Amino acid sequence: MRVAMIGTGYVGLVSGTCFSEFGHSVVCVDNDQSKIERLLRGEIPIYEPGLEDLVARNVRAGRLGFTSDLAEAVRGAEVVFIAVGTPSRRGDGHADLSYVFEAVRQVALAADGYRLVVTKSTVPVGTGGRVRALLAETRPEIEFDVASNPEFLREGSAIEDFMRPDRVVAGTDSDRARDLMTELYRPLFLMETPIVHTTIESAELIKYAANAFLATKITFINEMADLCEKVGANVHDIARGIGLDGRIGRKFLHAGPGFGGSCFPKDTRALVSSAQQYGAPLTLVEQVVSSNEARKRRMAERVVAAAGGSLRDKTVGVLGLTFKPNTDDMREAPSLDIIPALLRAGARVRAYDPEGMTEARRLLTGVTWAADAYDALEGADVAVLITEWNQFRALDLDRVKAVMKTPVMVDLRNVYAPSEMVGRGFTYTSIGRPTPGAA
Ligand code: UDX
Repeated sequence: MRVAMIGTGYVGLVSGTCFSEFGHSVVCVDNDQSKIERLLRGEIPIYEPGLEDLVARNVRAGRLGFTSDLAEAVRGAEVVFIAVGTPSRRGDGHADLSYVFEAVRQVALAADGYRLVVTKSTVPVGTGGRVRALLAETRPEIEFDVASNPEFLREGSAIEDFMRPDRVVAGTDSDRARDLMTELYRPLFLMETPIVHTTIESAELIKYAANAFLATKITFINEMADLCEKVGANVHDIARGIGLDGRIGRKFLHAGPGFGGSCFPKDTRALVSSAQQYGAPLTLVEQVVSSNEARKRRMAERVVAAAGGSLRDKTVGVLGLTFKPNTDDMREAPSLDIIPALLRAGARVRAYDPEGMTEARRLLTGVTWAADAYDALEGADVAVLITEWNQFRALDLDRVKAVMKTPVMVDLRNVYAPSEMVGRGFTYTSIGRPTPGAA
């Protein structure tokens, strides 16, 4: 099949590349000319394991191309995916759909016959209908179908998630569209991947419901962690004890500094806004949003406490800045709340991240950027582990102790074992777990 993918951000680039790996002929489009030039040179603008090789292989095979000419790409395709950004609109939390509608308008203008227009971007329920109306209004003489095909890709394992998904969700409202969607994902049926055919509205809501549910799971265990700390219980044991119940499941029960990233915060806010707008408020999700935001802001207080009550003229070494490991993505990362709060509390901050520092330099001021983990901890009064990169799991703890002024560690990802850290002479705090010997 011939596919045009409009938008070469994270979702568009991964999806377009994977569709070409399926054997389809894919052209990825972006209006950022410099991005297209980089892609044509084989440079991948994002950090995603395996993507560079997969792009190169499919470009060589002649199945994957890049262009800034949207009209040309649309003329050469039967299925057009919209994968442009849907950022949170300032103020009201609604998703900003202006990029989506602009792309749809251009697709309509370029089409020279039937096209299936599929939204891959996460769009609020009801958007499919608006896309259909815009297509009909722009080109009444052409027949269009509309579909919703949400993605469930995790950054860092996006290719695996695309190639071996738990399910594919396809929202359509015609047989022709349903058949085209089935054909697109045919290679997955060999692996018996379930395809959930629904209406467009249901598909749009499934994406938000999935993310809101996962965000709720994380927030639940984070609040349980707070309670554990008060009563001397261990949140790991709670997560295991409840997670082994098949109805609950063990995943997404890892307590930490609060969820971040490009999806959960934005999608939960957008879902809350939609639900309010339709008069069916999701009060549980509203609570998840506010609990998580407050949690991220509160994390710096743990560092202040670990430093003995004040950070004035103290140095904090920060390990990890991105919202999770194996990505260079800083969007809504807990570090963006924690570091400014540390600076406001009077600390000097030295920070290191394996992939996120270019972006972090743009977003944070007043920070000393370190060359590696040990450099970040040089002379530090307190170490704070914010993102669980593998290299921070395997620190040489004797060396850490030697470079730090005082061996105090706040581990916001529960990477280390409390008893071992105490045994090695650290003053150690983590999330929701008792530390032996601590008051
Ligand atoms: C997420 C969804 O998983 C994906 O299906 C959706 O399409 C996009 O959003 P992603 O943002 O890449 O993917 O990251 P994910 O690995 O899901 O983690 C999200 C955030 O939750 C991170 O900040 C992570 O640290 C946090 N998290 C996750 C926890 O704090 N505890 C957990 O148990 C799991």
